Amino acid sequence: MDEQRISSVLQEERTFAPSREFSERALISSSKSLAKLAKSAEQDVVTFWEERAKELAWFKPWKKAFTWKHPHAQWFVGGSTNLSMNCLDRHLADARRNKAAIIWEGEHGEQRTLTYHQLHREVCKASNMLRSLGVVAGDVVAIYMGMVPEAAIAMLACARIGAVHNVIFGGFSSAALRERMNDSKAKVLITQDGAIRRGETSGLKAAADEALLKCKSVKHVVVLRHSGDSVAMKARRDVWWHERMETVTAECEPESLSSEHPLFILYTSGSTGKPKGILHTTGGYMTQVAYTSKVVFDLHDEDVYFCTADIGWITGHSYVVYGPLLNGATIVMYEGAPNWPDAGRFWDIIERHGVTIFYTAPTAIRSFMKWGDQWPRDYDLSSLRLLGTVGEPINPEAWMWYHTVIGGERCPIVDTWWQTETGAIMISPVPGATVTKPGTATKPLPGIQIDVVRKDGTSCKPNEGGLLVVKHPWPSMLRTVYGDDKRYVETYWSEFPQSKSHPGWYFTGDGARKDTSGNIWIIGRVDDVVNVSGHRLGTAEIESALVSHPAVAEAAVVARPDTVKGQALVAFVTVKATHARADTKKLAALLREHVAREIGQIARPDDIHFAEALPKTRSGKIMRRLLREIVTGAVATGDTTTLEDAAVLERLR
Ligand code: WT7
Repeated sequence: MDEQRISSVLQEERTFAPSREFSERALISSSKSLAKLAKSAEQDVVTFWEERAKELAWFKPWKKAFTWKHPHAQWFVGGSTNLSMNCLDRHLADARRNKAAIIWEGEHGEQRTLTYHQLHREVCKASNMLRSLGVVAGDVVAIYMGMVPEAAIAMLACARIGAVHNVIFGGFSSAALRERMNDSKAKVLITQDGAIRRGETSGLKAAADEALLKCKSVKHVVVLRHSGDSVAMKARRDVWWHERMETVTAECEPESLSSEHPLFILYTSGSTGKPKGILHTTGGYMTQVAYTSKVVFDLHDEDVYFCTADIGWITGHSYVVYGPLLNGATIVMYEGAPNWPDAGRFWDIIERHGVTIFYTAPTAIRSFMKWGDQWPRDYDLSSLRLLGTVGEPINPEAWMWYHTVIGGERCPIVDTWWQTETGAIMISPVPGATVTKPGTATKPLPGIQIDVVRKDGTSCKPNEGGLLVVKHPWPSMLRTVYGDDKRYVETYWSEFPQSKSHPGWYFTGDGARKDTSGNIWIIGRVDDVVNVSGHRLGTAEIESALVSHPAVAEAAVVARPDTVKGQALVAFVTVKATHARADTKKLAALLREHVAREIGQIARPDDIHFAEALPKTRSGKIMRRLLREIVTGAVATGDTTTLEDAAVLERLR
């Protein structure tokens, strides 16, 4: 754990209370009412979530709100509902019918607005299109697209007919796409000709074609025409989105699905090489995502909400698409890069669309800071009333800049802690009620039980670093790792297994500490997971990509701090004897390319160091801790007695 960061956040004494104007019209308007809510949830957490679930529409009420068979939870058992119905049909009966659901802006500047009525029609048609290709409830549909409205339409269409979507980030390579389609046994793939970013087109269909060379499960590919680039269409397998959509009707009743019906799989990195398919189900996910969107973003009907996350990540699922739509909100969806055509793009979008709520990542904020205050200062950002961040701990300097330059010192900031696995926000300020401090996500939301504990399970003292755990199952929790329940049990539930005193705790993988006021400060991951520009990457995954190159014998990847990206990737590589004479500069460039091809640009190592040998234990395990100490410049104070050859470490230094 990073001690320097612990001590620097310890000095953070500035506090920020919401203004009276903000609190007065907020859904939760005082610390008192928040405390009351938290207390009632604490006394009976299941009833608390039942009340939230009742705010949504169900075809059939549940018989039992919660069951637990360690470590498998079920929520709203016996109930049936449909997420797409809750996002769309429910809003058609009142004035929201003609309200903008999605305001989309392409990178080239083109704009499209879909009202709830229009979005509903498109989703119904897309549902029928999927059915016409043989998709039935329970089938997996892969979605490999950029930030276009059709990506959201495709997700909602799956949810409508009970198909399980598996969205694969458009920045992933064909190899990563293939692995994720194969692991989930996807039956249909929805993609587009090309995605546009930073003025360039990336050929998604071409990458998909390559992935599909070794992917037997996919029977059909739906291709959206977007960039206009010409693509190869394989007869009988590939169909054009626009052509199929013309052959189907706009009537499609939402299927009545059981609360625990699988909703989506989303792959995320862990500490071993293979990505984990995180499985989420319907009723519980819907309930917590709807509730957290409402209270954390204080959503009102007049709001214009802009979340900059890509649909390929959990934030895009829960807080671009489902959460806001469940609340009948207006979403701004932007296709491209924040600095295209120039660094004022987001601020321009905020001004032109009158954005009131803006949700982004600390790494983006640090980039904005680097680009200079002049960009946001050139635009009118007075429509903004609330700001949010997610993805990694926000450094107080970035927090203060966000508060001052973007928020005009008037907008509360919600620093939201959660994970792909948690499905929805877990720790966050409630903006009309919480006094915030730069750098802490503050406290668990009502209905969420979180603690910082020692390895033996006892609670840490104030300011003592420990492990972040969730002590009671929550509605939007992952249900398993798709196809690998053993890994689910081992990764999340073996650190604090069921005991006489508790039903088993969920281990988040994060280290944290609680201050004397009960605010939680996230210190960072305690496993071999790194966070580069808000993207979670498993170092093992990058290592296995490196060793798949013929020149590489062994590889170890660690992170060093980076002022913009949060963390940067450093790879230590030993070369096979057959390549001993290789030009290391050239080889480093080749290896960086190789990783980008195997996983995607986001995983490209920043530095590659060639070594004669890597520091290992006598049993042959690479001691990454020592490499971490080398790249962070920390003095190796840790135990090195298990090191097999001490000279190796000396040479690396
Ligand atoms: C990990 C989860 C949740 C959507 C984006 C990332 C880190 C996330 C915060 C925050 C400190 C944070 C944690 C967590 N993280 N939000 N507000 N403060 N750390 O999703 O890829 O599943 O990564 O991101 O380390 O475990 P993810």
